[in-house]
Amino acid sequence: MSVTANRPLAGQRILLCVGGGIAAYKALELVRRLRDAGADVQVAMTAGAQQFVTPLSFQALSGYPARTTLWDSAAEQAMGHLELAHWADRVVVAPATADLLARLAHGMADDLVTTLCLATEAPLAVAPAMNHRMWKHPATVANVGLLRSRGVQVIGPDDGPLAEGESGPGRLREPDAIVAELAGVAPPAATPAAPGALQGLRVVVTAGPTYEDLDPVRYLGNRSSGKMGFAVAASAARAGAEVVLVAGPVQLDTPPGVQRVDVRSAAQMRDAVDAALPADVYIGAAAVADYTPRAFSPKKIKKTGTGETLALDLVRTPDILAEVASREDAGLKLVVGFAAETHNVADYARQKLEAKRLDLIVANRVGVPGTGFESDDNAMTAYWPGGERDFPPAPKLRLADGLVELVAERLRADAR
Ligand code: CTP
Repeated sequence: MSVTANRPLAGQRILLCVGGGIAAYKALELVRRLRDAGADVQVAMTAGAQQFVTPLSFQALSGYPARTTLWDSAAEQAMGHLELAHWADRVVVAPATADLLARLAHGMADDLVTTLCLATEAPLAVAPAMNHRMWKHPATVANVGLLRSRGVQVIGPDDGPLAEGESGPGRLREPDAIVAELAGVAPPAATPAAPGALQGLRVVVTAGPTYEDLDPVRYLGNRSSGKMGFAVAASAARAGAEVVLVAGPVQLDTPPGVQRVDVRSAAQMRDAVDAALPADVYIGAAAVADYTPRAFSPKKIKKTGTGETLALDLVRTPDILAEVASREDAGLKLVVGFAAETHNVADYARQKLEAKRLDLIVANRVGVPGTGFESDDNAMTAYWPGGERDFPPAPKLRLADGLVELVAERLRADAR
């Protein structure tokens, strides 16, 4: 079973904003379900919410102190509210009362929760809960319409018995259903921790497989999807870099702000990389074929005359990464390689780091179900001389942001 199926929100940082309604007690269960789904959860409460449930309960369930006011200097010192707004990959308001929806729709920032929602760039989801007449009121209908038009995800409400003994639409959706709806939306492409961290730098990224043609209809290839390299290119562009993405044959859209060069073979990839240099950073995420046929057969190779077996004569391809790393004239401040390993991950990765004279190597453990080549998720460890960092299983988009952060850190630490 894949990581995505087990923990659909793995690696996501969720800020749960709890509004003041009787359904606030269900938000406690929601914290548990979000964490079970793999998310890291912090909670902010309105004053009304604190009339129904205590911050201490949320602290016990989330592992973080629940935030209750803009004016708590101790909490602000630990993590300022703007930092908290930036920390979140997505913000979920549950329960969202009629009053809270109105304040969110109109961009108010008159308490901690509305300020966080206004200050964040993360996608917002609201799970409304209120009396059914309040839900149907034209003011609420208009406010929800306004929020939807801005791309806010509206989850529920359910139709059924309400707290006051009446029945109708207005029940908070059950925590499991809220998690399922959140998981149904593509994981957000979180902004890197330091926007602008790569401002003014030129970054060359390779991605995808290479295809080495045998004859007009056959080639040697591999199962790389290109997703990791594309995610890294997208993340580097969001961090302000000028990005050239040299892509092998893949079925992926070009990320915004990225200059893409399509290639097929290892030799073409090497030429495209050469043309893209000089640059400040090189990130070799492509799964470049190690061997290519010695000669391309312009005619289709026939079975007749070859017998029961066929031996292919293969020669080594240029090691683009090692070539780039040894070039003095390429202007590179940081060269990053990838390694796919099934065992002795740290040893092999460190050997490659040294042998290819890299500044950073990112090792994927291949063969773990739910991660790797064709998956949307991955788990990896980065090594550099004198250090390492573990990236637990998470969506590739999130890992790419983590890697770009690390690249920015290494650039600050030791320019070549
Ligand atoms: N690479 C490259 N050119 C090649 C082969 C690999 O640039 N001809 C780069 C890849 O982009 C990746 C790294 O080198 O960043 C992978 O290193 P490599 O030694 O090829 O790893 P493996 O293929 O896993 O090697 P081995 O089979 O020896 O473990």
